[in-house]
Amino acid sequence: MSTTPTAPSVYNRANPFKARITANYALSGEGSTKDTRHIVVNLGDSGINYVPGDSLGVVPRNFPQTVDDLLPHLGLGPDTMLDQPTGPVPLRDALIHGFILNRVSKKFVKAVLERLPEGEKKKQLGEIVANEEAFEDYIFTRDYTDVLVEYPATFALGEFMPLINKIAPRLYSIASSPKAHPGEVHLTVAVVNYHTHGRVKYGIASGYLGHGQQLNVDDVPVYIQPTKHFHMPPPDAAMIMVGPGTGIAPFRAFLEDRMATGATGKNWLFFGDQKRASDFLYEAEFAEMQRKGVLTKFDLAFSRDQAEKIYVQNRMHENGAEFWKWLQDGAYFYICGDAKRMAKDVHQMLIQIAQEHGGLTPEAAKEYIEVTLAKTQKRYLKDVY
Ligand SMILES: Cc1cc2nc3c(=O)[nH]c(=O)nc-3n(C[C@H](O)[C@H](O)[C@H](O)COP(=O)(O)OP(=O)(O)OC[C@H]3O[C@@H](n4cnc5c(N)ncnc54)[C@H](O)[C@@H]3O)c2cc1C
Ligand SMILES: NC(=O)c1ccc[n+]([C@@H]2O[C@H](COP(=O)([O-])OP(=O)(O)OC[C@H]3O[C@@H](n4cnc5c(N)ncnc54)[C@H](OP(=O)(O)O)[C@@H]3O)[C@@H](O)[C@H]2O)c1
Repeated sequence: MSTTPTAPSVYNRANPFKARITANYALSGEGSTKDTRHIVVNLGDSGINYVPGDSLGVVPRNFPQTVDDLLPHLGLGPDTMLDQPTGPVPLRDALIHGFILNRVSKKFVKAVLERLPEGEKKKQLGEIVANEEAFEDYIFTRDYTDVLVEYPATFALGEFMPLINKIAPRLYSIASSPKAHPGEVHLTVAVVNYHTHGRVKYGIASGYLGHGQQLNVDDVPVYIQPTKHFHMPPPDAAMIMVGPGTGIAPFRAFLEDRMATGATGKNWLFFGDQKRASDFLYEAEFAEMQRKGVLTKFDLAFSRDQAEKIYVQNRMHENGAEFWKWLQDGAYFYICGDAKRMAKDVHQMLIQIAQEHGGLTPEAAKEYIEVTLAKTQKRYLKDVY
């Protein structure tokens, strides 16, 4: 690999650096069903280093409104203090910064059930809690306020606190090369948001990054999560990169890095998203990289621009002969994005291409992709989530 792994920093998950966001703009255009944003995080005087392929850990917080909606339902005033080992702290601040409030916990719903008086409501909630699937569905779209609106119940503070879960950091694949943007980390964040039970909800971290933090305030706790394996190849090696949706992030970093260093290896990018008009992330930047000859080949799959779905793996298939030749000539294959469906289907397409263009049996093709390419030669690298 061409990059040296990132050296450990004094800043880590347990001791994040308070960085500032200096830019935050929409990548999704008008008419998009998504809210995907470019976020620039300035690392200030932290001395934090990273390499393309690393991720940024972000410790999120709730929107103050989420807490302000909740406190009256708990029968608690905004001035309530919470005893902590370090001394009393305002409950409102502790809830905003410390606990997941955008989705209700099962233990809280069960505690509400216990407190309900006998009657129709208790029976109704009891049936939901007793049915695993119904219980999952119930909590999927609700936060604490939603539950208390439907099933009013009171809790002493000491009873409520153990029923909520502590905030944990979220990871985002870094979308920049430090050689192109010294002292900055760029992210490509798809903001999770949905409107349920009369109120808008956000994913805790994507909502915080996208809409919950003012620009230029040193207040965003971050740390680098160094990648173990998703490093760039030697400068003269070819790269094939498959990154639909937010999966594009590390490949913007890889290409920026290759442009900055003048690396000679060829680069082939597969990108896909819903609609070309509204979801072509970084279109102008990639056009410039093509013009400069850094992006050797660029294949696009916009899934919703026609009646039938076209995905990145369809483009790989259409280009199967050339794809196979690149692999045979030593190209490294990288994939980033959705693990549940996309990465599995792309994996199957790799095996199919090995059969169709390598003349391998199904078993030999599987062995080639999963063992030779992935494990022995370490030329199949994944950053999927
Ligand atoms: C290594 C790695 C790299 C990653 N890189 C990126 C990246 O570059 N860009 C990126 O955007 N993400 C990336 N992610 C994902 C990211 O870490 C978060 O998981 C993502 O932003 C969602 O987190 P959140 O805190 O905003 O949402 P959470 O608060 O965790 O909420 C998400 C939950 O909302 C629920 N939900 C979603 N839609 C609805 C709905 N309509 N109704 C009800 N509930 C719903 C889902 O069940 C989901 O569990 C990466 C993850 C990993 C592990
Ligand atoms: N594991 C996770 O929880 C997870 C992972 C990734 C993204 N997400 C969430 O999804 C939202 C948007 O994510 P995103 O912008 O990164 O990408 P995305 O919406 O998941 O997808 C980008 C593109 O991939 C296509 N696609 C869907 N299924 C595919 C498959 N099996 N093979 C190949 N391509 C496929 C989509 O097409 P169609 O939509 O038209 O089918 C779309 O064109 C965010 O809210 C994000 O948090 C969740």
